[in-house]
Amino acid sequence: MLQPQERKNSEQLFERAGKHIPGGVNSPVRAFKSVGGNPIFFSRAEGAYVFDEDDNRYIDFINSWGPMILGHGFPEVVEAVQMQAARAMSFGAPTELEIQLAETICEMTGIDMVRLVNSGTEACMSAIRLARGYTGRDKIIKFEGCYHGHGDSFLIKAGSGASTLGVPNSPGVTKGTATDTLTAPFNDLAAVEKLISENPDQIAAIITEPVAGNMGCVPPAEGYMEGLRALCDKHGIVFIMDEVMTGFRLAPGGAQERLGVEADLVCYGKVIGGGMPVGAFGGKREIFQHIAPTGPVYQAGTLSGNPLAVISGLTTLRYLQNHPEVYAHIDHMTERIEDGMREILENSKLPFTINRLGSMISIHFCENEVMDYTTASEGNNNYFKQFFHGMLNEGIYLPPSAYETWFVGNTIGESELEHTLYAAERVIEEMSAQVK
Ligand SMILES: Cc1ncc(COP(=O)(O)O)c(C=O)c1O
Repeated sequence: MLQPQERKNSEQLFERAGKHIPGGVNSPVRAFKSVGGNPIFFSRAEGAYVFDEDDNRYIDFINSWGPMILGHGFPEVVEAVQMQAARAMSFGAPTELEIQLAETICEMTGIDMVRLVNSGTEACMSAIRLARGYTGRDKIIKFEGCYHGHGDSFLIKAGSGASTLGVPNSPGVTKGTATDTLTAPFNDLAAVEKLISENPDQIAAIITEPVAGNMGCVPPAEGYMEGLRALCDKHGIVFIMDEVMTGFRLAPGGAQERLGVEADLVCYGKVIGGGMPVGAFGGKREIFQHIAPTGPVYQAGTLSGNPLAVISGLTTLRYLQNHPEVYAHIDHMTERIEDGMREILENSKLPFTINRLGSMISIHFCENEVMDYTTASEGNNNYFKQFFHGMLNEGIYLPPSAYETWFVGNTIGESELEHTLYAAERVIEEMSAQVK
């Protein structure tokens, strides 16, 4: 039996946090609700490792949910942020740094223009508004299981049929908003075509994660992204790729580059800030003529382009631009995690499916192919919980939800890989022994 680590300080902090912070956390997925137990409170981080308030050390496969692609405390980024903090923390006025970041983003991704915001949520909300303002249409299509932040338009789940109008997924989202969001299963072009034909000239935008990462990792089926692109072209719909997770991770130019499909608008977050709160939405010049102050579609932010956040993002992106070997390394390490996990699970009695594209990977405890939200939901969550807690006790910090991908960072080396697979072998062996 694996021994749980001592996490007394985390337990005490969680109790204290609950008094003034709802649920003790500032973002729900941190609360461990879907795996049980209490969240861990962290105090410091270094390279591939995070350390909790009881000084337990973990190999970090969350990496702040993606941003820390270069590992924690990356010296160039830390130094740049420290120097900027001494110079100025915020102006609320234009700076040359913002231009440099915009130029770097456009060079890396091939987009024409970009507007900086403070989070992925803001990027997606703003992109939808711009698409609506540009097309003069109200409705959008999104895909079940794709997450685009907590903007009202995105918190919608499909009814039973793909063509039913959206039903709010959260109290507080109005029926009016829900009505304008249509949903289809991921990887189902026919369902999208049906929605378009049932709502002629009403769809402003199709928004999708190009490689879904919020129902575990679900890569697009062959031809699927090209199919969405063609449908958007045919019907005058703005094609929005939400690259908050995939951007600067799957390639310097994100999923657009990796999959070879171009979007009209793209949303960024996570890696773009290198650990600081940055988001961005960008795309075609013609569409961006419509945003304020050039055009009438309003969008703004007191701290947008904040110099501290921008220098962190800029230093991170420049490093990635100049070191393409980072992508080769994280892809290779993730491939070896996949191979190792496959071997371990094949020798067990547990059902499993592993999905991976580049450095995005997820393990689903089911036998079926996972290609959309319905198939992702067929995973056995009890197995996931056991796996998660078993790994945690072995010093491996995985996302606390079966619906998340692991985020592999550049500081994962041989010893971390060995430790991770050794831990997985022990945990899976123990789980397998309990299967009748
Ligand atoms: C694909 C995707 N889009 C948007 C968001 C929202 O970004 P943020 O949490 O920065 O608001 C996320 C967050 O996980 C995401 O994964």
